[in-house]
Amino acid sequence: MRLLLNPRHGTPGIVVLPAGGFRRAKAEITSWDGYAPTPLHDLPDIAVRAGVAMVRLKDESPRFGLGSFKALGGAYAVATLLTTELARRGVASHAGSSDLASGRYAEATQAITITCATDGNHGRAVAWGARRFHCRCVIFVHETVSQPRIDAIAAYGADVQRVRGNYDDAVREADRQAQTHGWFVVSDTAYGGYTEVPRTVMQGYRLMADEAADQWQGPPPTHVFMQAGVGGAAAAVSVQMRSRFNPAPALVIVEPENAACLLASGERGAPATVPGELDTIMAGLACGEPSLLAWQELERSATAFMAIPDEAAADAMRLLAQHNLIIGESGVAGLAACLLVSAQTDARRSLRVAADSRILLFGTEGATDPEVYQRIVGATAR
Ligand SMILES: Cc1ncc(COP(=O)(O)O)c(C=O)c1O
Repeated sequence: MRLLLNPRHGTPGIVVLPAGGFRRAKAEITSWDGYAPTPLHDLPDIAVRAGVAMVRLKDESPRFGLGSFKALGGAYAVATLLTTELARRGVASHAGSSDLASGRYAEATQAITITCATDGNHGRAVAWGARRFHCRCVIFVHETVSQPRIDAIAAYGADVQRVRGNYDDAVREADRQAQTHGWFVVSDTAYGGYTEVPRTVMQGYRLMADEAADQWQGPPPTHVFMQAGVGGAAAAVSVQMRSRFNPAPALVIVEPENAACLLASGERGAPATVPGELDTIMAGLACGEPSLLAWQELERSATAFMAIPDEAAADAMRLLAQHNLIIGESGVAGLAACLLVSAQTDARRSLRVAADSRILLFGTEGATDPEVYQRIVGATAR
């Protein structure tokens, strides 16, 4: 593992996610059919193993029946984009997501195509949102996205297209095709000149952390170990932790060792790209370029950045399975990092992990690729 204490931790910066945007996201998403807070599990055996007072894990696998937290962002951004477009086109000035879902504006929304790149979960969430809110959807996946993940997206009626290269190449292809055809990109990553949609996505993700804060009982968490791909989810968790807990828990950003673009950015002091195939079993975290918005939040709020090997994630999956929790490769990275840190005296000291620490983790996906899950854990995902 690699651990980098963030030299810029605590420096002042801009507000990336204003409070009003979260209030709107929460009001909309909690009104959707099928909305229910996901459970927060106490894991006392794992806390003993880690030598801390408490480990709690928010299990995102039941979220809207999609297997991950991603609908909170991707599907919410689809609804927001359609609402804005209906207003701009003079069709409806204040349509809410329930109006969209009812099909009342379907004639107008079906003329709108949204697109994005994905390594699985985001595309599935966007495709689900497109079906729910009645618009067309084209999803781009890179070479190594597995067939079960593609099938899960296509099941919602999206047109799924494969692109050569890695996730970042798929992001560029979605952008290029959108410009050619007049489609709308619903990306979970912000880049130069493209920040509004990913900001909306991140506002939606905050609900996951907000629920965890509501569910948390007793003295507040001291540490959050949060996995990152482009960093949007981690930044959303960061903002919400700061708004709900004072002092905010220490935030450790966790990435696969072959795709640690936030750690590289922390080293460089500016957004950095990790090239290559980004080979890792943690498919949702295989991103080589950080989201600009996420970086703006995390560069000052992250206590540390960590890069972990695949085996640590596989071990964490098996450990959770013993506790009847089915969490996928990308979803366990925070736990894997927490266990690695807790086993090393120096790392414990640097991050102030001690016997009285209370650790919050987000199990951001279930067995979203059941074949991979079975291969790693040796048991079928229920
Ligand atoms: C299960 C899971 N966890 C975490 C993440 C990381 O989210 P982000 O790319 O916003 O950092 C992803 C991204 O796809 C994911 O699928």
